Parts: sequence; structure tokens; C-alpha cells
Amino acid sequence: MAEHLRAGVLGWPVSHSLSPRLHNHWLKQLGIDGEYTAVPVEPEHLRPTIRRLIDEGWQGCNLTIPHKEAALSIAHVIDETAQKIGAINTLVFKNGEIYGSNTDAYGFAENIRRHLPLQRQKAVILGAGGASRAVCSALHELGFEQIFITNRTEARAEELAEHFGAGFAAFPWEMREKLLEGANLLVNTTSLGLKGGEAFDLNMASLPVSALVTDIVYNPLVTPLLTAASARGNPTVDGLGMLIHQAVPGFNSWFGANPPVDESLKAMLLS
Ligand code: ATR
Repeated sequence: MAEHLRAGVLGWPVSHSLSPRLHNHWLKQLGIDGEYTAVPVEPEHLRPTIRRLIDEGWQGCNLTIPHKEAALSIAHVIDETAQKIGAINTLVFKNGEIYGSNTDAYGFAENIRRHLPLQRQKAVILGAGGASRAVCSALHELGFEQIFITNRTEARAEELAEHFGAGFAAFPWEMREKLLEGANLLVNTTSLGLKGGEAFDLNMASLPVSALVTDIVYNPLVTPLLTAASARGNPTVDGLGMLIHQAVPGFNSWFGANPPVDESLKAMLLS
């Protein structure tokens, strides 16, 4: 009899995660005998929980806040992207080993790939937190020549620019509107615009109308930034696609099939 395959997402808190809905939808669609569950795990319990899941025969798991960095000291093998980003979001348990990878950069890149501007001279990233690190890695891979990071706390932007090296530069938050001049891509990785959070007020007058604008916030799906960008004629991509695409490599490793990605998934996730 075929094995019942198991994976899930470990976080604290984790109840808000859309990943169980996504993976279980794919399992059902593909007729795979498996399940994907949300597991609330306090930070100090991460290591023993992972051990328990391995003992119970799980195939692996995703990690979300606050476990992504801590997993670096737990995985036996860490892929290059996860090392570069300094965070792991996907673990695969195989032959007694724990493999760590980071699929957030892949998810970001896949989400904007179809819409990418032909010119990849300049990208502007707002924010320098965990999500920004994955975006930096993706934009570097996508071949952007100049990647400008601006953050409310400038030191974090500087640290990130230094970490990623050639092509990256940090700027004070006060310069964010001026920085948009000549940009081919604008990415918001801050929590500004999040439902119920602080409003996002950015004057985009300097941004070329050909520039692609994307937001990693997906609640609401169409953020105030995306609304403002569309209104002035810029192409836009919402952040939910990143969540969907980042899930593909994990699903493939745990459940042994490539899940289909299409626009209908968004409605399913938000219903
Ligand atoms: P994540 O892992 O989602 O990136 P994070 O590490 O907490 O989360 O980062 C949140 C980002 O939103 C940071 O860039 C943060 O700026 P600071 O580094 O200055 O904290 C940014 N952010 C949050 N609230 C903000 C606000 N009111 N104005 C500007 N930036 C804000």
C-alpha cells in the first residue's frame, strides 16, 4: 500500500497561514494520499518538534515566522540560496538527513517573470526585513544591474546592501520618492498597506509608467500601492502569486508531483 505522505508548516503563530489550504487543494486535485497541516511551535520547541516529525515519518515541512533563521542551525545540508538569504523556509527529511532550502526568492521571481520589464537596469526595494532579503536574492538572480534598497531604519538597508555586494546600494527612507526616477521595477516589502495596519502614502510621480510595481503584501490582494500604481498606468503584480509559487518546490519534494499553478488558485485561497 502506498505511504500516506505528510508535511506542514511550523510557525508561531501559524493559524493565519494559507499554506495548508493550498497544499491540501493540490493533494486533492492530483489524487495524492497525503496531508499538510499547520503546527503551532514555540521558538524553544523547534528542534524537538522537527525530531518528532521525522520519527513520525513526515516528508518535511515549511517554516514561517519566527523559525526561518533558527533552522540554519538545525538543517544538515543548506542550499546556496538559503545561505545567501540567511533563512530557511523549506525542510526535506530524507534518509535521516534534514535538507534546508529557501524558495521565497524563487516564488518572488516566478511571480513577476511573465511581467518583467525588458530593461533590468534599476530596481527599488522598499524595506529591509526578512522578505526583502529573499527579494534581493531574486533580483540579483534576475540580472538587475542596480538594486537600490531604502528602509525606515537605514542601518538595516546598509547591512543588506553590503551583504549582497556589487550592484546593491542603500538609501535613506526620506529619499524613497526621488529614488524612483528611472526605475524599471518597484517592490514593496514593508508591512505598509497591510490590512488594518499603517497606510502607505508614496508619491510615485518620479516613477516611469513602464515600471513594474509589485507588493509582497497580499492582504488586501490589491494594496493601496498597487491601486495607485494601476491608476497612473503602471503594470502591477499582486503578492499572492509569490506565496503560491514558493510552495511548488516543497510540494514537489514531499509529495512527488509538480502542482499546477493558475489564477484560479487565488480565488480559492481567498474564499
Ligand atoms: P518581514 O520578514 O515581513 O520582512 P520584518 O523583518 O519585520 O518583516 O520587516 C518589516 C519591514 O517593514 C521593515 O523593512 C520595516 O522597517 P524597519 O526596518 O525600519 O522596522 C518596515 N516597516 C514596518 N513599519 C513601517 C513604517 N511604519 N514605515 C516604514 N517602514 C515600516
